[in-house]
Amino acid sequence: MADTLTVKDNRTGKEFEIAITDGTIPADVFRGMKVDDDDFGLMVYDPAFKNTASCRSAITLIDGDKGILRYRGYPIEQLAEQSTFPEVAYLLLWGELPSQTELEGWINDITHHTYVHQYLIRGMEGFKWDAHAMGKLVSLLGTLSTFYESSKNVRDPKIRREHIIRIIAKMPTIAAWCFRHMQGKPYIYPDNELSYVGNFMNMLFRMAEPRYKPSPVIERALDVLFILHADHEQNCSTSAARAVGSAETDPYCSLAAASAALYGPLHGGANEAVLRMLREIGSLDNVPSFIEGVKKRERRLMGFGHRVYKNYDPRARIIKQLAHEVFAETGKNPLLAIALELEKIALNDDFFVERKLYPNVDFYSGLIYQSIGFPVEFFPVLFAIPRAVGWLAQWQEMLEDPEQKIARPRQIYIGADERAYVPIDKR
Ligand code: CMC
Repeated sequence: MADTLTVKDNRTGKEFEIAITDGTIPADVFRGMKVDDDDFGLMVYDPAFKNTASCRSAITLIDGDKGILRYRGYPIEQLAEQSTFPEVAYLLLWGELPSQTELEGWINDITHHTYVHQYLIRGMEGFKWDAHAMGKLVSLLGTLSTFYESSKNVRDPKIRREHIIRIIAKMPTIAAWCFRHMQGKPYIYPDNELSYVGNFMNMLFRMAEPRYKPSPVIERALDVLFILHADHEQNCSTSAARAVGSAETDPYCSLAAASAALYGPLHGGANEAVLRMLREIGSLDNVPSFIEGVKKRERRLMGFGHRVYKNYDPRARIIKQLAHEVFAETGKNPLLAIALELEKIALNDDFFVERKLYPNVDFYSGLIYQSIGFPVEFFPVLFAIPRAVGWLAQWQEMLEDPEQKIARPRQIYIGADERAYVPIDKR
């Protein structure tokens, strides 16, 4: 069986044999399909990239029909159970699990760049106390680029590595300071003796105690949540990081763009939207009428559905289990019962079954965040910290890929034909 596709252009009668590689055909070949020499050639039309591969990637595999997620070949379930977030970050960025020495060096690197320039606080102070934390994060990431002129050398792997380390190290500091700013509390400086997540908790929650001791249950839960959120191949924010980075924009600004994309309620803002939805539903009695509203298309069931997963999101399964472990420490979140009821009804209702709508990563994560004590506005920031690793891994892969160029989609022009300018008194 030939691994080719034969396309006949019925306008000209010409046939084209196109090689199939890795289950794809190159879109370029359609440009050769013309009715005459002046013809531009055919293009493929794919709004929202529903069926277009934009890169070759060796980082993350999702099999949406089977509900499989792997980082560099390792199943997410094994990483969540046996690994740690710093180790997973190393794996995603550099391709292999680190040796003991490599891991120690890596942890040392991402622990010793946690301080941020004091002037960044001036940027923070420019915001109102109740400004949304994601707006602050987006701005402060862009601001960071102004401190690091060398980050513009995106083609130099050594310099890239320096800034990758800086960003991973500073994300928790900036995020925690956004949180303290929201609460009107003084900023807490990093404690390099703690783990990556333990130090983040220290900067979030430390009050007058001389040394902050994170709860091991919450520290591990956040570490697992960070592992689960670290990468998810070519989603909206990662595509933004790649597209903006393809213009050779520095990594801080490329990640500011990615964070802006993540902020949206259909993407990383969904965890916040889920919590607001659960609060609005308020009691178990209101679940059936809410579901009816979703079926009438008055509402979306936030935290359900996914462009790629047409099966249970494997991350949601792990988070659901994790929620019980956290609640054993923090006390049960009263909204859990509503979430479970929504899930039960939706998974048995034809509307959701036919459309293969299952809980995604955001459905249960917000309940955990809320129980730990985070306000809803902070939830997308908790997504952005670990996802920065995925953005950076994908950004680096894009820069190293000789097939990539500046991202520049085509359009089908459907506007007016050429027409003469009409002076204002003649309109
Ligand atoms: N509630 C109700 N109906 C839905 C939902 C939902 N959450 N998601 C999809 N549908 C319906 C949709 O109306 C459509 O029905 P029909 O074919 O009859 O018009 C069908 O399912 C396919 O939906 P779609 O909008 O074409 O699917 P998409 O791949 O473009 O969108 C999505 C994917 C994640 C944006 C969407 O499922 C959604 O809006 N979900 C709620 C928001 C959410 O939870 N987002 C987090 C995604 S996971 C984390 C992340 O990536 O950040």
